[in-house]
Parts: sequence; structure tokens; C-alpha cells
Amino acid sequence: MKSSDVRRKYIEFFKARGHVEIPSAPLVPENDSTTLFTSSGMQPLVPYLLGESHPLGKRLVNSQKSFRAGDIEEVGDNRHTTFFEMLGNWSFGDYFKKEQLPWIWEFLTKELHLPKEKLYVSVFEGNKDVPKDEESAGIWKKLGIPDSRLFYYGVDKNWWSRSGEPDKMPAGEPGGPDSEVFFDFEKPIHDGCHPNCNCGRFLEIANSVFMQYQKQKDGSIVELPNKNVDFGGGLERLTAATNNDPDVFNIDIFFGAKKLLKEDKKNVRVVLDHVRAAMFIIDAGVLPSNKTQGYILRRLIRRAAVHSKATLQVLNEFIQFYGLPSSEQISKIFSDELTRFDAVLEKGMKMVGNVPPFDLFQTYGFPPEIIQELFKQKGLNFDKYDFEEKFKTHQNLSRTAAAGMFKGGLADQSEQTVKLHTTHHLLLASLQKIVDPSIKQRGSNITAERLRMDFNFERKLTPEEIKKIETLVNEKIKENLKVSRVEMTREEAEKIGAQMEFGHKYPDRVSVYFVGPASPAGGPKEEYFSAEFCGGPHVSFTGAIGRFTIMKEESAGAGIRRIYAGISTDETSKPNPESLSTKTGD
Ligand code: ALA
Repeated sequence: MKSSDVRRKYIEFFKARGHVEIPSAPLVPENDSTTLFTSSGMQPLVPYLLGESHPLGKRLVNSQKSFRAGDIEEVGDNRHTTFFEMLGNWSFGDYFKKEQLPWIWEFLTKELHLPKEKLYVSVFEGNKDVPKDEESAGIWKKLGIPDSRLFYYGVDKNWWSRSGEPDKMPAGEPGGPDSEVFFDFEKPIHDGCHPNCNCGRFLEIANSVFMQYQKQKDGSIVELPNKNVDFGGGLERLTAATNNDPDVFNIDIFFGAKKLLKEDKKNVRVVLDHVRAAMFIIDAGVLPSNKTQGYILRRLIRRAAVHSKATLQVLNEFIQFYGLPSSEQISKIFSDELTRFDAVLEKGMKMVGNVPPFDLFQTYGFPPEIIQELFKQKGLNFDKYDFEEKFKTHQNLSRTAAAGMFKGGLADQSEQTVKLHTTHHLLLASLQKIVDPSIKQRGSNITAERLRMDFNFERKLTPEEIKKIETLVNEKIKENLKVSRVEMTREEAEKIGAQMEFGHKYPDRVSVYFVGPASPAGGPKEEYFSAEFCGGPHVSFTGAIGRFTIMKEESAGAGIRRIYAGISTDETSKPNPESLSTKTGD
């Protein structure tokens, strides 16, 4: 089957069962500093899994562009990719196990025609907090799965949250037991093989997470108000299963690009994966750099370039396959990075033998996999042990930094982050009122320490303007304005001039956050101070925020300015005791 058929069948199947299709969220999440990329379909839906009502109802379906940087080293085998499309369906406190599992079974066996006898399932075996999932096991048995194809696993395999097992979940994070479906390719045969074995015989193609728990500050796991379903199935893997071919790189998405490559199988997979991922990351507005998303992008392009001279042709093939509109811009950004890498290589080559091998990685950006090869070619001695030790330390540092990011942001719904999120809305409205009504937000990033906002404007702000903006935001904080969330049609929201995120596609019904008295659709604009398309969470009253200060204003590229701002506790404002609720205000 073609991947587009699998995608279409899935969306139609769930639409026919009362689900509303939502667009894929951007690959680089806005207003979420907890993670660099969207890595699963549930990520943009966390507020709704935690109990907020979604404007489109309780049943949603989509295909979500996802990227998992953590899998970069795994690429090269038959099944790992960094970028993938995740087919997902959700129930927010609506249907649960007895609907979800039979539907997935029906989809796999009747729509995709996967042979029943090649499907294995797994369920949660239980732990001290959450019982064994007998209910799911019973449903699978009723569907005809024999005991020989039904497996029980613990938290390491059959528990899902964004941060993994219950012990690793930060406070506030939702998660739950899951039930997975595996496709059996019947080879290789060896003793002790089972669905979660790494030999490549089994491929996980479907994961129904029963997201009904939330981690608490005291470390306990408690039930969420709603019993939710969060399903994820990799489009590439499902398509591979329909072809009964365990190599995901043999599906239609890769046909054209693969013909351009002559390298060995493992390297071809690395090039295919990295170039496709780089393309979608550039398409999401990222430029190669030495920081955050830009660093990952640079690494993908350079790793691919080491393996093949045809990366640009491969890129153009993918651009055509997916029909991306900004094709020229993507090619240019990619080829500029190739040129930069050539220059780095040339310079670095001269350094081989003169600087320690690890400096070639850290200072010159050489991918570790080619440093050894350089050394070999020049007949020089390479201390592999020393290199690997340093590399391990470097990786651990990066991981710690990533964990720090996770803790700091919206995932734990920390008070500071929520306050800064509301402040962000006040700042945008103040910029428009004081500096220029045509200012639009062009990017944002919020951590527990500060907010960062990019906006379109041609010149530096004057010190007077900065002062006036600070004063206005602080006035609005002191006025202790109500923050409320109203659901309305996209058209209504556009009519009242609610601020949208640049480049974001919105569904037909949207959620709008108002600061100041909420205006009914079409009502007078003057009633509220700010209105933005937004999923929250926010404080309920601005008085909770504290004192606002602009820390820095600078250029962030041609025609784009950037503001860093923070808040501190202010004794003179008297927050309403309820102000910090993250629940909806209306
Ligand atoms: N969120 C679940 C996953 O990513 C479905 O596997």
C-alpha cells in the first residue's frame, strides 16, 4: 500500500466514528519551551488531556509531523527514523478501552488487510500504583487473540508518558498504561524472541495509551478527571507492514530518493532519514546554527553529507514527493549549509594531526564517524578510548541540558511559566498600542525564568517606548484583569481581530484567550485589552503576575526585533487568591 492510502484510510475510519480531523501542529512547538520538537501527536493536546475542553469536541484524529532527536544514533536499522508521521486519535474522557481496541483491530485487519495471525499484542502487567490491565487483555481475547500472541510487560515497555516510566515523570505530567500491536515478519528466528525483542522480527505498529493518570508533586500517581485515549501509530511502519517488508525505507516515500544513492544499506538509510528530517525542520522555520533546533538541523545535514555527495538531489526528490511550497528556500538553506560544511572540512583537514581528535568534533563540527577515518587515511594514531570517553561526557552534558529544559516549562505547568505566558499576551497588546498597531508576533519561547518574543518591526525601540510598554503592562497587572477563555468559530475570532500565530493553521473552532472583559464575537474591540488564539494555560487574574521588566531588546534578523522580559514578585499588587488556577476562567 502507498503511505498516502494508509493515512487517508486511517483519518476516514476515525472520522466515520465521530472524530474531527485537526491539522498537524508545527514541528517546532510555539509557546512550549519544554521540548525542541513536536515528538508525538499528544504533545500539543496536553491541556485537553488534563481536563480542559477542546473547542472541536471530545474525539480528534490527525497525522502529526513528529521528530525524535533521541533516535538519531539508532538510524541505520530497518525501523528507526528521526522524523515520522504519527497517526493519532484521541478521546478526552469519552470512549475508552472497549471501543479503542476493537477499532484499532478493525482498522488493521479490515482496512489495511493485515493478516490476523501476524499480529501480536501487549498489555500492562501492573505495578505498585496501577493494576494489571486485565480489561484490555480480556478485550483482545474476545477479539480472537490467543494467549500465545498476548504478552504482558512492565513500566519499561507498557507505560507511556512523554518522559517515560512513572519514576521519570515530572510533577503534572499525564501518562498511563498502554496496549501495543506488533507485526510479525517471521524472521529472524532465534531462541527467546518476543514482540519487544530488538532483532527486527517484530515491528511495533500501534500504541493505545490509556492516559488516565497524572504525576503529583509528592511523587504519587493519581487518576485524572478524565479517562483519555491517546493513540499513536507510525505511518511509515504501518505502511511497511502492509507491504510485509520489515524495512521502512522500502516504502513509497523513499522510492525516488533511494535511486539516487549508491552507498551501502545502512548509510543509505542514514542519508534518507536525515535529509527528509532536515527538510521538514527547515520547513518549520529553523536555520542551521550551533544552538537548540538549529544545532540538530546542522548535525543532520552534516551527518548526511559525510555519507553521500547526492544529498541535495535527495532533498529535491523529497520536496517533490511531499509537494512542499517553499521548495526553493529550503534547497537554498540546505545547500548553503553544505557549502559551509565544505569550508569547515577543508580547514579541519589541515588541523588533523595538529589538534586532539575531540577538538575536530567540538570546534570544527566534524561528525565523530569521520574523524577516525581521517586519521586512518593520514596514517596517524587515533586514541579511540580517549575520544569515546570525551564523547560520552559531552553526550551526558547535552542530556542534562535537555532534562533541564523539560523541567523548566509548561510540561510541569510551573507557576512562573504560566504567569509569563499571560505576560506574553499583555506584552504583545502593549507593543501594538504603544509602538505600532501592525506589529505581529513572529516567534516566542517561554521558560520559567523569562519570556522571549520576536515581532516584526524595522527599527530598534527607543528607551522611552520601552519604558511606556513596561508601564502599561504593569498597569494591566495591577488592574487585576480577568483572563478568560472563549470558544468560537475561527471566522468569529478573526472578525474581532484575535491575534494569531504566524504560519499556524487553525481548525474551524478555536479557543481564544481574552485579558480584560471578554468580548462576544463581533462585539466592541475596546472591551478587552488583549485577545489571542491560544490553548493556554494562563493565570485567571493578571494580579497574580508580579512586576514586569524588559531585560533586553535586540535585532533577531532583517525586520524582526526580539524582546527578553521577566517578572518578579511585587508586594504592591494584591493577587486574587484564585489567580493561579490554570483552569478556564469562563
Ligand atoms: N503518545 C503515544 C506515543 O507516542 C501514543 O506512542
